[in-house]
Amino acid sequence: MSGRWAYSGRWALVTGASMGLGETFARALAARGMNVVLCARSGERLAALAREIEAEHGVRAAVVAADLARPGEPARAWAEAGRDRTIDLLINNAGFGLHGRFDELAADRQAEMVALNCTALLELAHLALGEMRPRGSGAVVNIGSVAAFQPVPMKAVYAATKAFVLSLTQALVEENRGSGVRILCVSPGPTPTGFQAVAGTRVREGQMGVLRAEEVVDTALAALDAGKTHVAPGFANRVSTVFGRMLPPAVAARIARRVNAAR
Ligand SMILES: NC(=O)c1ccc[n+]([C@@H]2O[C@H](COP(=O)([O-])OP(=O)(O)OC[C@H]3O[C@@H](n4cnc5c(N)ncnc54)[C@H](OP(=O)(O)O)[C@@H]3O)[C@@H](O)[C@H]2O)c1
Repeated sequence: MSGRWAYSGRWALVTGASMGLGETFARALAARGMNVVLCARSGERLAALAREIEAEHGVRAAVVAADLARPGEPARAWAEAGRDRTIDLLINNAGFGLHGRFDELAADRQAEMVALNCTALLELAHLALGEMRPRGSGAVVNIGSVAAFQPVPMKAVYAATKAFVLSLTQALVEENRGSGVRILCVSPGPTPTGFQAVAGTRVREGQMGVLRAEEVVDTALAALDAGKTHVAPGFANRVSTVFGRMLPPAVAARIARRVNAAR
């Protein structure tokens, strides 16, 4: 399915919108004339961003403060976001990573990562598709990672959550082919945002595949416009997804361990 996505005057729900890629998505969608519902935990930051977006782009911006890792919160957030408005685009972006050996990282923090990166994403996609499919229009954009394409020692659970996002999204693409609903998986590489401080990593000088958040978002929205179903922004990241898939998993994991040990 192709043809430029119709942004103007419709509503998007962006999760993880208080900073980083989510904030950048919200600004880029507003610049294209879309109204946005901003969702994350930091209500005050979202409220300030909503005011800024409305003033700058002449669209409407609403706020839903929610901790999406908590049971019941994705459903509450979806209901609140859709009260008195139709959500035509879901940007399923909220997520975090952790760097460290699996047995040394706290189990509950890693379970929280699964709750946010996987459970909340699937619940929101489910609610969105339940409304979009009968309408025969809408789009769900799930934010994965280049980490999805091979096991990643020292980011074991994070990479597993993103493999889940990739697999789920690719299956949803097929289930929804011809339905009028667009499904897109975005697999970013290293992007300087708040992600690194939370994960305990850093973007190194000269690191391959590094893009600015604006470049990632522009590439993602161009892919949505083109009706693509997967995009890994940046040449080096595209190449790494191909090699990640071609190599035997044990070999890919060995290489990924070398790359990640230094972070
Ligand atoms: N940056 C990268 O290098 C990179 C690479 C590949 C993929 N990604 C993916 O891109 C997505 C966005 O990450 P980012 O780089 O923009 O990171 P970020 O700057 O840390 O932003 C993460 C966003 O998620 C929100 N969030 C965190 N926990 C939440 C929770 N429990 N409930 C609701 N919202 C929550 C944060 O807001 P609050 O703290 O206010 O809740 C924030 O708005 C993630 O899925 C990440 O895995 C990032």
